[in-house]
Amino acid sequence: MTAPTETPVARSAQGTDGRRVTIGAFAYFEGRIVPSGAANVSIATHALNYGTAIFEGIRAYRQDDGSLAILFALEHYRRLLRNGRLVRAAVPETAEDLVEITRDLLRRNGESADLYVRPLLYKSAQTVRLQLSGLDDRIAIYSFPLGDYVSTEGLRVAVSAWQRVNDNAMPARGKITGSYVNACLAVEDAKSAGYGEAIMLNRDGHVAEASSANLFLVTERAIATPPLSEDVLPGITRDAVIELARNEGFEVVERVIDRTELYTADEVFLTGTGVQIAAIASVDDRPVGEDGKTPVTTHLQERYFAAVRGREERYRHWLTAV
Ligand SMILES: Cc1ncc(COP(=O)(O)O)c(C=O)c1O
Repeated sequence: MTAPTETPVARSAQGTDGRRVTIGAFAYFEGRIVPSGAANVSIATHALNYGTAIFEGIRAYRQDDGSLAILFALEHYRRLLRNGRLVRAAVPETAEDLVEITRDLLRRNGESADLYVRPLLYKSAQTVRLQLSGLDDRIAIYSFPLGDYVSTEGLRVAVSAWQRVNDNAMPARGKITGSYVNACLAVEDAKSAGYGEAIMLNRDGHVAEASSANLFLVTERAIATPPLSEDVLPGITRDAVIELARNEGFEVVERVIDRTELYTADEVFLTGTGVQIAAIASVDDRPVGEDGKTPVTTHLQERYFAAVRGREERYRHWLTAV
């Protein structure tokens, strides 16, 4: 890793919740850790012109002893490289290399707060050609402090008029940057109508997921979530919550979910790196459940938040020390 030659300064950028955040002083860019102010692409970059990048969102949580640990580091980088195949992207870094680079980056940034890490696998070629193969690809990684992305205690959501991208148009499983215009459109409408988040239906009219989180519903303590073939992102938190819920004795099924089940469920919650586990208080202004209580969601939140802070021996393997 080449040592940076100038004094790094933290850089301002827009955070995932719309507020300005401060990017760590260093970023990984073009094969090296550099001051983040030097991590800039040309305006002719293919990924900037056509949305041909794959991204990830990773959290690093402060542990009780003050150290920082990355949650599901290897799983995120494996998904990034696997999804890269969708846009025919290939880079020399392996998933294991990227975990080490991220540990190095976070150590250099020396933050003390919980962090969000944003890796990008992007078509770095400077060309306007509409093609995927034969173009250069690069990895960029930056980080910034991030607390709760949305309230974890009761979101008001609305079913969006925007349909979730489908596998034959823009693979929903891909985390392809260009396809997040779909999510932006849905969130934009939901927020301007006074809701906290949008729920998106797929081309068949079934529940897919939220703009950037998977969806679960609870009916008489049985938990259901749409299968991956319903145009949902194969969420890493989704997998973790399924594992956690089964370990806690809940039945979890993956099945098609109709829109109106959101109105009749006892509990609805979202999962994702950003949202963590977030309870939904109402869908289309209909309160979820009968009494506003969310015992299953609350139980899973407690176990999940303990696990990500390293307080659950059973889930220590979720974490990679920085
Ligand atoms: C569309 C979409 N669904 C679900 C998720 C949740 O996935 P994960 O748990 O891997 O963060 C995300 C977030 O990355 C997302 O962008």
